[in-house]
Amino acid sequence: MAALARSVLVTGSNRGIGLELVRQLAASPQPPQHIFATCRDPDGPRGKVTSPKIPVNTVDLPSIRRAVQVVESCLEGQGLNLLINNAGIGSHATLQPETLKRVCINRAWVSLCQEFLPLLEKAAKGAQKTGLSCSRAAIVNVSSKVGSIGLCLGVLEAPMYPYRASKAAQNMVTRCLAAELRDKGILCTAIHPGWVKTDMGTEQAPMTVERSVQGILAVLGSLSQETSGAFLDWEGNSLPW
Ligand SMILES: NC(=O)c1ccc[n+]([C@@H]2O[C@H](COP(=O)([O-])OP(=O)(O)OC[C@H]3O[C@@H](n4cnc5c(N)ncnc54)[C@H](OP(=O)(O)O)[C@@H]3O)[C@@H](O)[C@H]2O)c1
Repeated sequence: MAALARSVLVTGSNRGIGLELVRQLAASPQPPQHIFATCRDPDGPRGKVTSPKIPVNTVDLPSIRRAVQVVESCLEGQGLNLLINNAGIGSHATLQPETLKRVCINRAWVSLCQEFLPLLEKAAKGAQKTGLSCSRAAIVNVSSKVGSIGLCLGVLEAPMYPYRASKAAQNMVTRCLAAELRDKGILCTAIHPGWVKTDMGTEQAPMTVERSVQGILAVLGSLSQETSGAFLDWEGNSLPW
């Protein structure tokens, strides 16, 4: 199987889905040459990834800008192929005055896209291939089915207003970015990982993180211009917006 991409950056990679993405990418038969495993506190008790240590707090623009510099110098003139916006926080809040603030926290990944865009553009331009793919240049946003407006009436059991609203907004921005970046050779897709046993998903979730990430990585390897701007689950099924 061909390498997914030469360089990959994952946010929130100290635990949960982000950590497993990094583990499986590193263990793949043809691993990326560069895996940038970022998290907000690499030296903290949950900082399981060792090298290179790139602290990225997605709500802290200076930390994102410092990370861009580190990544750029590691890539030695090459672009970044794949940005996976995985970091996120769950919330079971109902409609409260605090809601908007929490929606903003999950919206912070937009800054990641803006700041890493020049490196993604460089990868797209420098690629020896046309069309859209994760091996050329791509933004993958880890979204959630509970952010689907179309499916909302089917998932009434948990309020999660801020979380759902932030993921719905993320889906819309994914779609806009896909349209805007298509001509620059950059793919942009939203992926629902399933309900997964992580701190966020809880032990009640039916799926292991290993199984979810196996599926996600297989889907990422299959993405193309047809699926840029799509909302897919970990098995590649299309989800309603
Ligand atoms: N698990 C599920 O069932 C499920 C279902 C649908 C979608 N998702 C999505 O999948 C993604 C990963 O979720 P998960 O289940 O792996 O959750 P998790 O185990 O709770 O991990 C969340 C990760 O996000 C990081 N994070 C949170 N806020 C951050 C910030 N401001 N800056 C940098 N990192 C930050 C956390 O870092 P710290 O350790 O520093 O807090 C942690 O690494 C999320 O986007 C989530 O919405 C999960």
